[in-house]
Amino acid sequence: MTGSVLIVDDDQTSLAALESILDGQGYNIIRASNGSDALQKADALIPDLILVDVMMPVMDGFEVCKRIRATPKLAEMPIIILTALDDRASRLLGIESGADDFLTKPVDRQELRLRVHTIIRLNRYRTLLTQRENLRRLAESVITAQEEERKRLSRELHDDLGQALIAHILNLHNLQKDLPLEVDLLNKRIDALTADTNQTLNKMRFLAQNIRPTLLDTLGLRTALETYSYEFGLRTGLRVLFEADPEIPEIPDAHAITLYRILQETLTNVLKHSKANQVWVELNIDEHSIVLTVQDNGIGFTLTQTAPNSGIGITGIRERLTLVGGKLVISTSASKGTVISAHIPLTQTQDTGTA
Ligand SMILES: Nc1ncnc2c1ncn2[C@@H]1O[C@H](COP(=O)(O)OP(=O)(O)OP(=O)(O)O)[C@@H](O)[C@H]1O
Ligand SMILES: [Mg+2]
Repeated sequence: MTGSVLIVDDDQTSLAALESILDGQGYNIIRASNGSDALQKADALIPDLILVDVMMPVMDGFEVCKRIRATPKLAEMPIIILTALDDRASRLLGIESGADDFLTKPVDRQELRLRVHTIIRLNRYRTLLTQRENLRRLAESVITAQEEERKRLSRELHDDLGQALIAHILNLHNLQKDLPLEVDLLNKRIDALTADTNQTLNKMRFLAQNIRPTLLDTLGLRTALETYSYEFGLRTGLRVLFEADPEIPEIPDAHAITLYRILQETLTNVLKHSKANQVWVELNIDEHSIVLTVQDNGIGFTLTQTAPNSGIGITGIRERLTLVGGKLVISTSASKGTVISAHIPLTQTQDTGTA
């Protein structure tokens, strides 16, 4: 079975012995020789299982276990504690610190292999269930968001554009009724009608641009994002600075529209939640990805593992990115504000040929 196992033990001989038991089982073995090394590797490499020795100087196995459970990103990671102390007290301590299972040293080869195998299999199953649940929630939120969007469009078409056109027809009727008019007066009335028509046209353009940002098709991603940032600044009074790499390759439409929608949601979030007065929007090529970064100088927020009652904006961003093979990175603090970056991998042809 494939999977990665992080083995944590300060004693090199014992570490090598554990590794040799799991050798040839198809696992990718990661070693750590102390608690802080283990926490770092767990965070960076997200193993499928951690095997941790209890007796270690500075940070013992119980403490490693507690800290992993206290880190939202790692909290669900399976942990087996290896203990030479086969007594009730240390087992209780192990349970208290959040271990899933115990093995007594010296470990029985067969028992270790079986436990590791079972836990990795169960963990895979649990991950699969979580993914399925996330997909179900995504489908639900997409349908709800789509319905909300339709309602909003229908309302704007009916109330806003519809009313404006009815008023326009009435004005034309009145004009006709009042004919003949002096040329000056006629000109004034026609000017007023033209101004109204232009206003209605602008509303319609704004609505159309929101449904499908045609700028993406006509002027490309960089200009579309720049224009959106600029107009958002004008509309809201927020200072929005835009910067982009000079050479942005052409990317598939689905990727471009994803980045456009992410910019809309993140700028709206900055306006709604951050109390910032400045936002920096950047579009860069970073190694083999295209990266959109939106940074504000606001109040930041707490990244909780699951917040069922909060909105669906950020969840939607994550899901949109997953669909195009990308990822979202958020860094936020009260003193530095929030930095949100969306990474989408470039395909090989985009990677080499820039347009
Ligand atoms: N730039 C930001 N600064 C401060 N807090 C933020 C920022 N972006 C998001 N948040 C916090 O994260 C929460 C989740 O954001 P999300 O976009 O998912 O939901 P929402 O904006 O509350 O609702 P929705 O997007 O569904 O209308 C927000 O409620 C807010 O507390
Ligand atoms: Mg939002």
